[in-house]
Amino acid sequence: MALVIAGTPGVGKTSVAQRLSQRTGRRYLNLANLIVENQLYAGFDEERKAYVVDTRRCREYLSQVLTCREVLDTHVVEAVPPSKVSQVFVLRLNPIQLRERLRARGYPERKIQENVEAEVLGVVLVDAVNHFGEERVCEVDTTGLSVDEVVQVILDALAREEIMKNLRPGSVDWLEKYHHLLH
Ligand SMILES: Nc1ncnc2c1ncn2[C@@H]1O[C@H](COP(=O)(O)OP(=O)(O)OP(=O)(O)O)[C@@H](O)[C@H]1O
Ligand SMILES: [Mg+2]
Repeated sequence: MALVIAGTPGVGKTSVAQRLSQRTGRRYLNLANLIVENQLYAGFDEERKAYVVDTRRCREYLSQVLTCREVLDTHVVEAVPPSKVSQVFVLRLNPIQLRERLRARGYPERKIQENVEAEVLGVVLVDAVNHFGEERVCEVDTTGLSVDEVVQVILDALAREEIMKNLRPGSVDWLEKYHHLLH
């Protein structure tokens, strides 16, 4: 079954998923690229300068092409068919550090604020739990870890149930400390 690496934009999905692909021999798939290449969008949001994903068509497309030997990199978890996925790793990052990373990328302030708020609230985690069910979802706090260290946590979790248990949804909570970042 395929593995999914999810998380708020900028948390490190692509870096981690590509390295995980190298370490496991699984094929790396970037869902954002697939959506553009195969026109799996419903339109373009001018304000956000982003495609609006057609999640139903995207799921249908992935149901056809996934062989279950992939690492899928996405922040739109609803676009992935649950029947093809064994485990979802939602990467989390301290929102202050996420803000710095997005600033370094030159993102507009409004987009940075939206993504920081999404990370504080754990939007992608909640979406993933709703879509895949709690048993298949875990979260990895990447704060202070290198890409290799994050990949090692994931490999250890896949190998040992007791490590996976420590990554259960709810293990990361930025709300208490960082609610002041919400507008
Ligand atoms: N563990 C890490 N430690 C330090 N920097 C990192 C780490 N992971 C990723 N980065 C850096 O953070 C930036 C964002 O990483 P990356 O592109 O992998 O994120 P992403 O989640 O795929 O973002 P997007 O959703 O926009 O595609 C890059 O400059 C990358 O080099
Ligand atoms: Mg990426």
